[in-house]
Parts: sequence; structure tokens; C-alpha cells
Amino acid sequence: MGTQEIEIQVNGQPLRATVAVEATLLDVLRNELGVVEVKNGCGQGDCGACTVLLDGDAVNSCLTLAVQADGRQVTTVKGLGSPEAPHPLQESFVAHGAVQCGFCSSGMVLSAASLMKQNPTPTRAEIREAISGNLCRCTGYTKIVDAIEEVANNARLLEERAS
Ligand code: FES
Ligand code: FES
Repeated sequence: MGTQEIEIQVNGQPLRATVAVEATLLDVLRNELGVVEVKNGCGQGDCGACTVLLDGDAVNSCLTLAVQADGRQVTTVKGLGSPEAPHPLQESFVAHGAVQCGFCSSGMVLSAASLMKQNPTPTRAEIREAISGNLCRCTGYTKIVDAIEEVANNARLLEERAS
């Protein structure tokens, strides 16, 4: 197997690496580029902890080859918002107590963000479906769904006021 030079925009910052063609995006992000907010859970597509946005769509970075991300935009939870200017989903997760150990939270928030990009006002069932690939061992999911639903409800209110 050979190597390939790649350049990935991570949260808007161009990062370059020479990677094995079989290396996963998860391994390259964490081990080559120091992007450790992306979590390594199962490493085989079962838990969603490694979720990132690739050109805006949620993917499991453990199932994505790093070379597939060449020239593309990767967004992690740090790119969605900051402690000073959090994304509404990040604020809502904190407000609802939807973050306990936090291991799943990055992937959960990014899966929700991907859903709401396509459908800003999802139903509770659509929210559950969108995060069905993200496992949480702590919260029992209710607080997570509540947190996402509040952001959807706020978007629905704004839509109604604008119509
Ligand atoms: S680490 Fe990728 S799905 Fe679990
Ligand atoms: S908050 Fe601990 S795994 Fe979800």
C-alpha cells in the first residue's frame, strides 16, 4: 500500500498530511493532525462517536478513508461553535443536561446539525432516526432528543412568524 499527500480544510483551516492510502479519516484526524475532539469509540461504524461533517454531511470518520476527504471540508464540534459563541444545539445540550460523560456528545451534536441543515424543523421521530447511529451510555437519550427538539421548535416558531 502506498501513501498520498492530502489537504483537508478542518474547521476552515487547511491541514496537510502524507497518509497511507488505507488510513481512516479518524486515525489521521486524531493521530496525524491532533484533532482529538473527534472521538474513537468502536472503530467499526457502530457507535457514532467519530462523527464529523464532510462537506456538511454527517459521516463516521472511522469508515471514511482519509484520502476521500482530500480537498474537502471537515467540520468537528469545535467548528460548529465555541464556548464564547456556541451553536444553538450546543447551548441546548448544556441547558437540557444532555451532556454527561460527554463521549458521545460531539457525534450527537454533529448528527443533529446535519439533520437540521436538511430539515430545520424535524419531528421527534425524525430526530430519533437521525441520531439512531449515535450511541449514548449515560443519558437514556430523552434529554438529547429534548435538546434537539427545542432547537427545532425555535426554528418552527421563527418560520411561523416569518410566514
Ligand atoms: S468509532 Fe466510528 S462509529 Fe464508533
Ligand atoms: S453522555 Fe456519556 S455516552 Fe453519552
